[in-house]
Amino acid sequence: MDEYREANRSLWNAWTRINLRSEMYDVEAFAAGHGRDLRPIDRAGPGDVRGKSLLHLQCHFGMDTIRWAGYGATVTGVDFSEEAVTAARALAARMGVPATFVQCDVYDLPRHLTGRFDVVFTSHGVLGWLPDLDRWAQMIAHFLAPGGVFYIVEAHPLLQIFDDRVAEPALRLLYPYFHGREPIREEHPGCYSTPDAPITSVEHIWLHTVSDLINALARAGLRIETFDEPAYHRAIDAHYRLGVLYQELGRWGDARKELQTFLGYWKHADPELRTYQDAQRLLRTLPSSGVPTPAT
Ligand SMILES: C[S@@+](CC[C@H](N)C(=O)[O-])C[C@H]1O[C@@H](n2cnc3c(N)ncnc32)[C@H](O)[C@@H]1O
Repeated sequence: MDEYREANRSLWNAWTRINLRSEMYDVEAFAAGHGRDLRPIDRAGPGDVRGKSLLHLQCHFGMDTIRWAGYGATVTGVDFSEEAVTAARALAARMGVPATFVQCDVYDLPRHLTGRFDVVFTSHGVLGWLPDLDRWAQMIAHFLAPGGVFYIVEAHPLLQIFDDRVAEPALRLLYPYFHGREPIREEHPGCYSTPDAPITSVEHIWLHTVSDLINALARAGLRIETFDEPAYHRAIDAHYRLGVLYQELGRWGDARKELQTFLGYWKHADPELRTYQDAQRLLRTLPSSGVPTPAT
């Protein structure tokens, strides 16, 4: 593994510790059988997975993997963060959900896993950590059973090129759409799930164009059946609006959760910078969670 991916792995170990305690992921609610579920857009692709084998790439600490098991698949999750995989195994065991988790870099997966899968799935924040989409696509082809389906849900590459550090509402280009081999180094305070977490995060990111993705999959022998560009950021925007609504109703815990979710997603999903600033401001003014103030 190169030095950048090694640095990213350490970052993901640190972020996992933060995420496990975050309101955004709300592990306790999830373990109790509610909370976060697969988004409709995620569920739509592979369709009915009952009785199918499903390989979940870059599964983080396994929440979505566990959900796929709940929808009837026999699941295997893969992630290179040992902290994430340890947490995923513990969470599945705690919930009594059968799931296999493999800890390794996705590029090394053929050395750690055998077999073929009916569905290979990956989603939300995965491609930017990968330097080489051709090798990634070959690995996917290697694990797909004949007639199997690969499904990816990911932020549109166009949303990644805007300046996300500016304070005023303006759309400025900062990052390249056509990116070279060296990663972009991004340093920022906090973590996407917990913007005020006491951490300085350094990310090494590779940007990929739409054609990089499509051609890598096609070159690996996959047949592209559908490629959609849904107005996904509108769904993200709903988190902000719900946060404002809950704040007005005096439901501080709900408002914090919705606003934190919005802020976590915003970078990849919502170019409306003023809303982002407003959400940060609003979050700062909210009382800490758990204050049971009834709406008036
Ligand atoms: C944004 S998370 C994906 C979130 C996941 N879709 C979910 O909903 O929980 C990205 C994950 O990719 C993993 N990752 C990044 N680079 C990787 C690599 N080269 N091999 C394996 N896992 C990797 C990280 O450890 C992290 O858990």
